[in-house]
Amino acid sequence: MDISKKLVETHSLSKEECLELFSLFDVPESMEYIKEEAVKIRKKYYGTKVFTRGLIEFTNYCKNNCYYCGIRRDNRNIERYRLTEKEILDCCANGEKLGFRTFVLQGGEDPWYTEERIADIVRKIKKAHPDCAITLSVGEKSKETYQTWKKAGADRYLLRHETANEEHYHMLHPDSMHLSNRKKCLYELKELGYQVGAGFMVGSPGQTWEHLAEDLVFLQELQPQMVGIGPFIPHHDTRFANEKAGSVELTLKLLSVIRLLLPKALLPATTALGTLDPLGREKGLCAGANVVMPNLSPVENRKQYELYDNKICTGDEAAKCKNCLSARVRSAGYELVEDRGDYIG
Ligand code: 5AD
Ligand code: FES
Repeated sequence: MDISKKLVETHSLSKEECLELFSLFDVPESMEYIKEEAVKIRKKYYGTKVFTRGLIEFTNYCKNNCYYCGIRRDNRNIERYRLTEKEILDCCANGEKLGFRTFVLQGGEDPWYTEERIADIVRKIKKAHPDCAITLSVGEKSKETYQTWKKAGADRYLLRHETANEEHYHMLHPDSMHLSNRKKCLYELKELGYQVGAGFMVGSPGQTWEHLAEDLVFLQELQPQMVGIGPFIPHHDTRFANEKAGSVELTLKLLSVIRLLLPKALLPATTALGTLDPLGREKGLCAGANVVMPNLSPVENRKQYELYDNKICTGDEAAKCKNCLSARVRSAGYELVEDRGDYIG
């Protein structure tokens, strides 16, 4: 059977089959077929709905030193900030008024935000907004900590695996970080009943086709409810400052493939896609994505949370982004909905 047909019909591919599929990536008819089928299955499960998540970047302190990331510990050229509990709650209140029903608390791995402090914040958000979902994205923690937060009311957790290949992982991260621990965290989060998001950068330094095939195999093993992928974009204060950015085209192709491998997945059209291409997010939606994640953080702090250069929307109020995105989603033939946007079991 032709490999693209196998993908469409069985929703599964081995590593060798992924590599075979990649060899079709520059055959326009094959790619047209994959994209059409991705959109078809996306419509089967989610219609034309696009879910929004209000992103709150609540701290840019980080104890890690990931080589690609602008807020890594050793970057002395950024001003560090932490939102107070009140500021976070204000972001949520503003978000709820704007129609958001999911709040994503994302931050560096900041030890000031202890297990208890985060649990408190989660409880307070849930009390004020019982109909909203809470997503945490604060890195690798113990299973006990994840459990405390789950009990406090957290619903989902984002932790991109970044690359499923051990050697490549070590090219992107210092020796203090291990792929095995990252994977362990992802499996524990799933066991605890979180809706879990994995993912990776497309075109990160040193990435090969083999690595990408391993990423797709890992996603099939883990079966995450969410998958975040976006192009790598260099940040001027990192060792990868002079590396090439990832390709928008390749990201779009992989989005379609992931939609077919995990048909019900929640797949964001990421800010990184929108940063490299003014129509990147629209193109993402047309390739199979069904989520957008505008920023609810205070505009004063936006610039300080630059994981990569030229990140979009750093000067725009949440209300403006909401309207802008709503128009963009419509122009792509979809509609933004006010809904928690849970995974459909
Ligand atoms: N380019 C693109 N994405 C990046 N991320 C971090 N740094 C960069 C970069 N330079 C992504 C990582 C991380 C997510 C929050 O942002 O994949 O998991
Ligand atoms: Fe922020 Fe368009 S989404 S201005």
